[in-house]
Amino acid sequence: MSIKYAETEPATGTSKYVGQGVDRRDGPAKTTGQARFAAEFPYPDLAYAALVHATIARGRIIALDTAAARAVRGVIDVLTHENAPAMKPAPKMSFLDLSSIASGTSVNYLATDEVHWNGQPIVVVVAETPETARYAASLVRPSYQELPATVDFAAGEPNAVPEKGIPIMESGADKGDARAALAAAPVSVDLRFSTPPYNHNAIEPHATTAVWDGDHLTLHEGAQNIPWLRKHLAQRFGVPETSVRILSPYVGGAFGGKSRAWAGTLLAALAARATGRAVRLALTRAGVYHTVGGRTPSTQRVALGADAQGRLTALIHTSVSRTGRIGGMPEPITAASHHLYAAPNIHLAQNVVQLDLLPNTFMRAPGESIGTFAVESAMDELAWQLGMDPIELRMRNEPERGPVGGQRFTHRMLKEAYALGAERFGWRERDPRPGVMRDGRWLVGMGVATAFHPSMRMPAQVTVRLGADGTLVVRSGMHEMGMGTATVQAQIAADEMGVPLESVHVEYGDSDLPPGPGAIGSVQTASAAAGVIDACAKLKKSALALARRAPGSPLRGHKLEDLVARDGGLHHAGGGQTYGEILTAAGRDHLEAESKAGMLGFVARTVLERRRKVRAATGAQFCEVRVDPDTMEVRVSRWLGVFDVGTVINAKTATSQLRGGIVMGIGMALSEQTLVDGRDGRIVNPSLSEYHVPVHADIPHIDVHYLNEPDPTTPLGLLGIGEVGITGVAAAVANAVRHATGKRVLDLPITLDKLL
Ligand code: MOS
Repeated sequence: MSIKYAETEPATGTSKYVGQGVDRRDGPAKTTGQARFAAEFPYPDLAYAALVHATIARGRIIALDTAAARAVRGVIDVLTHENAPAMKPAPKMSFLDLSSIASGTSVNYLATDEVHWNGQPIVVVVAETPETARYAASLVRPSYQELPATVDFAAGEPNAVPEKGIPIMESGADKGDARAALAAAPVSVDLRFSTPPYNHNAIEPHATTAVWDGDHLTLHEGAQNIPWLRKHLAQRFGVPETSVRILSPYVGGAFGGKSRAWAGTLLAALAARATGRAVRLALTRAGVYHTVGGRTPSTQRVALGADAQGRLTALIHTSVSRTGRIGGMPEPITAASHHLYAAPNIHLAQNVVQLDLLPNTFMRAPGESIGTFAVESAMDELAWQLGMDPIELRMRNEPERGPVGGQRFTHRMLKEAYALGAERFGWRERDPRPGVMRDGRWLVGMGVATAFHPSMRMPAQVTVRLGADGTLVVRSGMHEMGMGTATVQAQIAADEMGVPLESVHVEYGDSDLPPGPGAIGSVQTASAAAGVIDACAKLKKSALALARRAPGSPLRGHKLEDLVARDGGLHHAGGGQTYGEILTAAGRDHLEAESKAGMLGFVARTVLERRRKVRAATGAQFCEVRVDPDTMEVRVSRWLGVFDVGTVINAKTATSQLRGGIVMGIGMALSEQTLVDGRDGRIVNPSLSEYHVPVHADIPHIDVHYLNEPDPTTPLGLLGIGEVGITGVAAAVANAVRHATGKRVLDLPITLDKLL
């Protein structure tokens, strides 16, 4: 049995809570310190682990001196490749095997003397206190035999090869003859961009508490995808999936960084198995940089040709990204360029180079966030060449159908988004000349860019349980990373059943629950909503069946289609019954229904569907910057985004997510970058003091607007909002800087040295 992936899945309830900006249910627990994160679960025999990281890029460990570490009082064990129990090797990468997609790297930690990147964990120290473990780890002395390594992206880039392509992601494409059209175009730009590597910096650094009871593993872990992680752990430790329980009630931010099994998780479980103790491994901030992948760096070329009226004749977008020799996935950097502009000639290509570094992983809108930087900067530059307003240029090239594949858009409201944004932002006040607008001594610039992120679905299983006392319990292994998962699903369920919001309880974050969708790819809310709607429909059907069998029930002889779910029960014009009355009359204390969905067919469905239609969340980003004319310091002074994300269930939580994406994009644009030593692959700035994420003082008020038009092809009309907010942001900043200063910065981040 599975959810039908229908064109339309009309919700059957009446909308009362959907659309209301209700407060997040997890808010009070978090603000009062009641919420427990992975490193906060107590166990009486808890031991603490710390990692020793390799300091060479590639080679072999020829000796490990652990004597000093072992001699420290309170050290329980020092685990190395010479004494640790071996895990099973990482599964070979396949898109049909979720366990393999969950592999952070292919390295079998502590089962090999091989070193594959600078920072790879090679020893785990387990001790009675975290301080002891860290101190003892600092005393381990490894000796290496070094092997030649390629760690420098710029040096490795000439060896990049065309990427093989991932079934569910769009990469290369060719339509017409883009090269010839570019050469013949009366107006053109041809630009080379670069973006640096970025690292994950969630508020909660990765942490694991692992406990074995015989062959049963309990893992407290901040996770974005419990089913993937559970499959992976079961496979690595050779136990059935049912022997692994993952508890993840709260996740302190993740952004893609907690969707795979990285070394810390595996090694905490391994250390717990080896020592027979409950083991906690809380990574240091540097430990996260060393063991959890980040965003690929990229170089990109965008060339655009246009006629004198600004109609595109050629669009070329090519990219080089990096994976690791021991894992990682090519990022779909040119994916959005399939759908942004109506050009008759298009060439898109993605290339990839493998380096001896920790592989990249998902990070908020992988591909689109850096791809839109290049293509949306190039569009702005083309507008300068044409002497045309950049919004007008975009509107002239707004496609009727998918520019490459000719698919129909299920939803496309960029014109409306730009129109509303321009009005609210005061775009008319923009003097089109560069370097002319001033606020006192500050140079002022205004820029726009388009946001785009595909809208996908994943299967979700949901059960709903109605109690005779009127309570409704929704159960699904969803993830709460701070975006309001339980809150919005409660709103949906309350509407579907017609019960008060307060009577709905949502259980999530536990692998013992029916498997939820991952909190990845902006899919969770819509995917879970499909399950909630389906399960609630079944529940109402069962409730009605009970009522129809009860003598004297006012619902006798009525069909579900004639009834409205409201006021805690089912009603028609002439009467109705509460669920409590129905259940009590039938002598039942509860009623349960389930929505099931399998992973099978998801990939095929996505690929097939992509041939016929484009479904995406989009937006128009408006940025204003102030630039100090002497130091060239850039400050973002205003931000406004208009988003077409389909139905907005809860504007409070949705706005927070979009703002978060914009903040992360401002960081990408102006300050964040991971610095890798080109000689030995060492990350030079693995700390928040030297890797500069934006702080409050860097961020102005962010004004978020919605078009709030339901998508006709998704449950409740939802399109997903987790990632679209970051897309286009870096380009909007770069375009505003270009307006303020006349300078086009092609290499992120836009630090002041690039403007002087
Ligand atoms: Mo997202 S980058 O799939 O968490």
